[in-house]
Amino acid sequence: MTVEKGSVLLNENAWKNLTLIVNKLAPSRIFVIVDENIENYCFPHFATKFGIKMSYQTIRIPLGEKHKNIHTCLYLWETLSRKGADRNSLIINFGGGVITDLGGFVASTYMRGIPFINIPTSLLAMVDASVGGKTGGGCGCN
Ligand SMILES: NC(=O)c1ccc[n+]([C@@H]2O[C@H](COP(=O)([O-])OP(=O)(O)OC[C@H]3O[C@@H](n4cnc5c(N)ncnc54)[C@H](O)[C@@H]3O)[C@@H](O)[C@H]2O)c1
Repeated sequence: MTVEKGSVLLNENAWKNLTLIVNKLAPSRIFVIVDENIENYCFPHFATKFGIKMSYQTIRIPLGEKHKNIHTCLYLWETLSRKGADRNSLIINFGGGVITDLGGFVASTYMRGIPFINIPTSLLAMVDASVGGKTGGGCGCN
């Protein structure tokens, strides 16, 4: 399987391909950004499907559009730094458009940019939220 930066993976092989991509990236650490709803309603599914052997850490941000701001970015940058994220770490943005926007921007600006993968959970985030200009560029895939 060839996966370019910005690739969109879907269908029943998506989880398997996600595992292949993450293994290929061989990140030093994995951070999964979620909000409270995603943690409660979607995370159990992620935990059973994500086939990576290395452990990962979740970072929860407050719910809602009003928290899509620089204060949440600061919280994420500081939390990543405190938890030892380096240039080879991987961020997985697991949630709606707020999470994929914020997480994409934070990944693009942490240590001059680290890889990220978006796993969109809302229809809007799946069909409309882009990876690129609005999130400061970066090297992610959906
Ligand atoms: N980057 C882009 O090109 C682009 C394009 C369109 C929209 N956006 C951004 O996307 C945001 C809106 O996205 P949104 O509508 O996904 O909002 P959102 O991320 O705030 O999600 C809406 C709510 O649904 C919850 N949620 C998401 N998925 C869920 C699931 N599977 N089960 C249960 N709850 C779930 C979230 O926790 C949240 O409370 C806006 O900030 C907008 O600016 C970005």
